[in-house]
Amino acid sequence: MATFIKFFPKDIGIDLGSSNTIITDIDGNVLVKEPSVVAIDLKTYEVLAVGVEAKNMIGKTPENIMAVRPLENGVISDFELTRAMLEFFIRKANSGFSVFQPRAVVTVPSFLTDIEKRAVEDVVIYAGCRDVKLLDENIASAIGMGIDINEPKGNLILNIGAGTVQVSVVSLAGVVSSSSRKYGGDNVERNIKKFIKKNYNFVIGDSTAEYLKNNILSLKTDEQDKSATISGKDLVSGMPKVANITASDLLPCVLPLVNEVHTCIRDVLETTPPEISGEVIYDGVKICGGMAELSGLVESIRDNLEINAFVVENPIKVTGVGIGKALTLLKERKRFIFRKNDL
Ligand SMILES: Nc1ncnc2c1ncn2[C@@H]1O[C@H](COP(=O)(O)OP(=O)(O)O)[C@@H](O)[C@H]1O
Ligand SMILES: [Mg+2]
Repeated sequence: MATFIKFFPKDIGIDLGSSNTIITDIDGNVLVKEPSVVAIDLKTYEVLAVGVEAKNMIGKTPENIMAVRPLENGVISDFELTRAMLEFFIRKANSGFSVFQPRAVVTVPSFLTDIEKRAVEDVVIYAGCRDVKLLDENIASAIGMGIDINEPKGNLILNIGAGTVQVSVVSLAGVVSSSSRKYGGDNVERNIKKFIKKNYNFVIGDSTAEYLKNNILSLKTDEQDKSATISGKDLVSGMPKVANITASDLLPCVLPLVNEVHTCIRDVLETTPPEISGEVIYDGVKICGGMAELSGLVESIRDNLEINAFVVENPIKVTGVGIGKALTLLKERKRFIFRKNDL
């Protein structure tokens, strides 16, 4: 029986996103990929479900149960629920009993304040890790893209997630310049819900808004006829209702996000030193995150900013893969890439 007891568990990389959490091992293998959602009993505050199971409950729960996302725009908004969620995911990543707890490296957006960073460290420790190091999300993304981050070469990384746009130039294992916005896929979904309520007098659920955003929305002129018939509830009669929504209807809902993306890239290019801005422009913008595959985004960046851009392979997983691989840097004692306070 003793053979089933591991002395040291696997160290893990955690990409802690507002929408999805990915846990990987040192080789970048995905151990957990689940929505960052927790379902709780509102009376007892008891956690009823976590991850996929909790996400499937959104909008379908009885009054006493609520499915919540404990992180908002990349920041922990509910410490205890984030802890409970991470405890569940960390256990899933390291099944079986181990004498020690795992060590973890965790992604953080570049705009977090020291207090917010401290909350991430604490939450990971309270969720069951014995040591935690934080790494800038776009450095993790660059590692996941296979970039040698120790080289003195600039790489322009754009990550568009559920609640954040993050643009940075990464070189010599550090962030040379960066710009970010607390705006992302969630905001587009909110805009879609508002638009349909205002123009069609009808309310749709979160999953319908997400479906429209991920499957119908497009920035390409020749895709504006794409449409879907969706169901919701009539505002006046309260009865079920259906409507046909086209990509052109939804276009205004995504334009604010596209503008934020363009502005962030422009800001970063303006503050990038001339020594590396040339190579950054030559290589182009490497796009990752769940919103990377928004149809027509690459073309909009090329046309508006006259800079090459492309979506990297596995844009949703790449940050998670990179944060796992960053464990190697920790083992090699390349601690300089982690937070200064951790030295
Ligand atoms: N195939 C997909 N899987 C997951 N999210 C997707 C997908 N396509 C689009 N998205 C959207 O991308 C966003 C999540 O992106 P992600 O990079 O995981 O965010 P975060 O890092 O903020 O958790 C959501 O708005 C989601 O609807
Ligand atoms: Mg992310």
